[in-house]
Amino acid sequence: MPASKADILAAFERQSEYCRTRGASLTAALIDAAAVDIKANGPVAGLVKNFGEDPAKGALALRIAGAVHYLANKGRAGSLQPAYQSLRAPGEAEFAVALVALAEAHGTVFQSFIARPPQTNEINRLAALIPAMSEVSSRFDLPLDLYELGTSGGLLLAPDQCSIDYGSFAWGDGVIALKSDWRGEAPDLVKRLDIRHRLGCDRQPLDFSDPEQLDIAHSYIWPEDPRRRQTFDAAISATRDLGAQIDCDDALEWLAARTVPKSGTVSVVFTSVFAVYLDDGETTRLHSLMDDIGARATAAAPIAFVQFEPEAAMDFVTFNVDVTTWPGGERRRIATAHAHGRWVEPVSN
Ligand SMILES: C[S@@+](CC[C@H](N)C(=O)[O-])C[C@H]1O[C@@H](n2cnc3c(N)ncnc32)[C@H](O)[C@@H]1O
Repeated sequence: MPASKADILAAFERQSEYCRTRGASLTAALIDAAAVDIKANGPVAGLVKNFGEDPAKGALALRIAGAVHYLANKGRAGSLQPAYQSLRAPGEAEFAVALVALAEAHGTVFQSFIARPPQTNEINRLAALIPAMSEVSSRFDLPLDLYELGTSGGLLLAPDQCSIDYGSFAWGDGVIALKSDWRGEAPDLVKRLDIRHRLGCDRQPLDFSDPEQLDIAHSYIWPEDPRRRQTFDAAISATRDLGAQIDCDDALEWLAARTVPKSGTVSVVFTSVFAVYLDDGETTRLHSLMDDIGARATAAAPIAFVQFEPEAAMDFVTFNVDVTTWPGGERRRIATAHAHGRWVEPVSN
């Protein structure tokens, strides 16, 4: 059943507020302009009227923002081009008129963006995941095999290629420079992560060597955040020849088919903003798969399950970093963090 107009408008209002409070005022204004047209039953309303998913969870507003940014990156945003160059939004009514003209001129681009969930691969999330991987590494003192479910383009399979400025301390000497704000006492992290194999799975993996896929990925990085795009591009170059294996499959089927645990390595299964997209049945299956894999773990072949996922309330403000290790199945919250790892707050247990 298509989403109701009221639900769409509520989702747009929430997304616009989210963008505005995070410095993305042009993207917020664009979403407001789209809402104006939807209220008036204009062409944008026509484009979203058959949207069959939850407009909030399916990030419908960001799909429209992605379409406009995609066109702007190609210099095809018509009268909105100057706004995307200056990052200054026109007035709401003027913005709505320009957006309608763009949607009418490039209906196919809009339709293809509306049909596809926004797909990101946010390397800075490693600022939140690395403390968990460090804990796993020091606990078992073995090299790590990484298995990422929902890996997108596989950038998060390269924690050892990063260096992170956490404000009060720094970690790593890799070429991918990340930034975060550590909100607590400096932790005792391992100096280096020894990674033996990198495997990831996604049902729609992104291939950044394909220019069109790269353009689409760029369009979901808010224009207000050029640093994020620079870091993203640096991560793509640094990971190009790392030899990560990325398979196209359903992640739960893929996980069930892995031969883990393996002797002499910690098999680290991890998720980053993936589990939130599973339905209740899939969530139960994921945990029961991990319990089965964990039950086979030994001291010489341990298992870790690391998750960076939003709080259950889905406020998309607080994200949690949780680690479960086997043998034993002990689960621990390591930290809460910003959605893109811009800050990390350790949780004392
Ligand atoms: C928000 S992205 C996160 C990507 C990456 N983990 C990161 O944090 O940058 C979620 C990814 O999960 C993938 N995904 C969602 N459900 C999936 C499933 N059942 N099997 C495989 N991949 C899935 C999507 O295609 C998408 O690439």
